[in-house]
Amino acid sequence: MKILVLNGPNLNLLGIREEDIYGNETLQDLEHKLKEIADEVNAEISFYQSNAEHDLINAIHDAYKADVELIIFNPAAYTHTSVALRDALLGVRIPFYEVHISDIKTREDFRQKSYFSDIAIKVFSGHGTNGYLLALKEALKIS
Ligand code: DQA
Repeated sequence: MKILVLNGPNLNLLGIREEDIYGNETLQDLEHKLKEIADEVNAEISFYQSNAEHDLINAIHDAYKADVELIIFNPAAYTHTSVALRDALLGVRIPFYEVHISDIKTREDFRQKSYFSDIAIKVFSGHGTNGYLLALKEALKIS
């Protein structure tokens, strides 16, 4: 199975960013753990993070061209604003899990709206970085 883990703005700051909310783990640490899990079952996994909406859109288009079968996506702040990213995912028809480190439903009002939750396979929100591992394991059907 070919999987892309896609991360939106400011997630490159994991480890130093609002640690009370997002924890101490860096994005590199997290990606390393995800790679180990994927390797267990010989799944092909790739990673991309950008702070720019158009780069994330292009990454979704490129995923289509590369026959990626599943995306694990934390759109970060674009969760609450981006019709363009939603349209990109609908356009390429690649199934995806939506992941949030924090529980967006118990935070500020402006984080209550997600442009992705109704079209995601499933949403993992509020499990810390473990949410990515849960999504990957579910996709790969491993425990
Ligand atoms: C986030 C939640 C978003 O509201 C926020 O803008 C982020 C990260 C999360 O992982 O909890 O950047 O997606």
